[in-house]
Amino acid sequence: MKIPFVDLQRQYQQHKTEIDQAIHEVLDQSNYIGGEKIKSFEEQFAKQCGTKHCIGVANGTDAIYITLKMLGIGEGDEVITSACSWIATSETISQTGAKPVFVDIGQDYLIDVEQIEYKINSNTKAIVPVHLYGQMADMVAIKTIADKHDLIVVEDSAQAHLADRGGWSVGASSHAATFSFYPGKNLGAYGDAGGIVTNDDQLAEKCRQFANHGQLVKHQHKIEGINSRLDTIQAAVLSVKLNNLSEWTSQRRKIAKQYNEALKGVSALRLPLVNTNSNPVYHLYVVSAENREELQEYLKNHNISTAIHYPTPLPFLECYQFMNHTKEDFPIAHAESGKILSLPIFPEMTTEEVSYVCNHIKGFYSGLL
Ligand SMILES: Cc1ncc(COP(=O)(O)O)c(C=O)c1O
Repeated sequence: MKIPFVDLQRQYQQHKTEIDQAIHEVLDQSNYIGGEKIKSFEEQFAKQCGTKHCIGVANGTDAIYITLKMLGIGEGDEVITSACSWIATSETISQTGAKPVFVDIGQDYLIDVEQIEYKINSNTKAIVPVHLYGQMADMVAIKTIADKHDLIVVEDSAQAHLADRGGWSVGASSHAATFSFYPGKNLGAYGDAGGIVTNDDQLAEKCRQFANHGQLVKHQHKIEGINSRLDTIQAAVLSVKLNNLSEWTSQRRKIAKQYNEALKGVSALRLPLVNTNSNPVYHLYVVSAENREELQEYLKNHNISTAIHYPTPLPFLECYQFMNHTKEDFPIAHAESGKILSLPIFPEMTTEEVSYVCNHIKGFYSGLL
């Protein structure tokens, strides 16, 4: 058996007719930028998120940048975020002119809310929690801190479409939540795409204007903006796929449950920690593994693809060397980066495939004993 990490081809084959038809409708109309298909996707996605607005943009990175910039973040400001994420989270904070300030993670791989207040000073303007691997950060605690210190909150939800925790869904408790629709994401386009959701009418309008060269009406550029529009073919694909997102999320949860049950007795592994009242969407299923490198090599030799998200915590990336962080500043992020391993997970993965992965993991560790 050969187990890919993600199999986008399998999903396409299952939905080929509807997806091809949606793409052909755009080709037939030859309307590639803007139009009804964009509006319709934005309305459907906002509805599923339970927010008033969705603004489609070119990718999940721009979604963060545009939102922070339109909320007034810039030169001289500090923005608190998690030490563990993809670089897009901190890169976009820097792009606004602000400084990213990192906070260590907890055992759930999410920003450790207990440590946030130690990093707040008079320059702090915002917090960007990351709902890493598909589990929401503790938004109840984050909102309490943000309200106390009058801070903006933008949720990086690139990996957490339709997740909820403590009665709040993504985007419900903050100024805005940003999404990536990169092909491998839980809701993935057939190219780059992203979105911003918010309940704030004024912010929604500003983001829409900035993402389209500063215009809401053609040729009326009230401000300078950027070109970061969601393109129409991607919106057409996303609309078809959105109809299946709840079903795919259930499938991901079923697979995670199967992994949990099959691997719970393996003492060399720490399985994903799910917080009380939290409903993760398992963009990734990440274990903390002893002898990680050997395990990954063993699985590779048995045709099982795995990955590491992410090998280096943000503060230790070369581009942030000037901040002079030490491993003592982020002990959990540092320790976990040497142990985390993402196992294959995608909605179409079969129970036999999950069993195959689990049996090989168990086989590896029993061979070590
Ligand atoms: C946590 C996180 N934030 C932001 C992004 C950026 O999204 P995109 O690749 O669509 O620009 C990603 C994508 O990998 C991500 O995982």
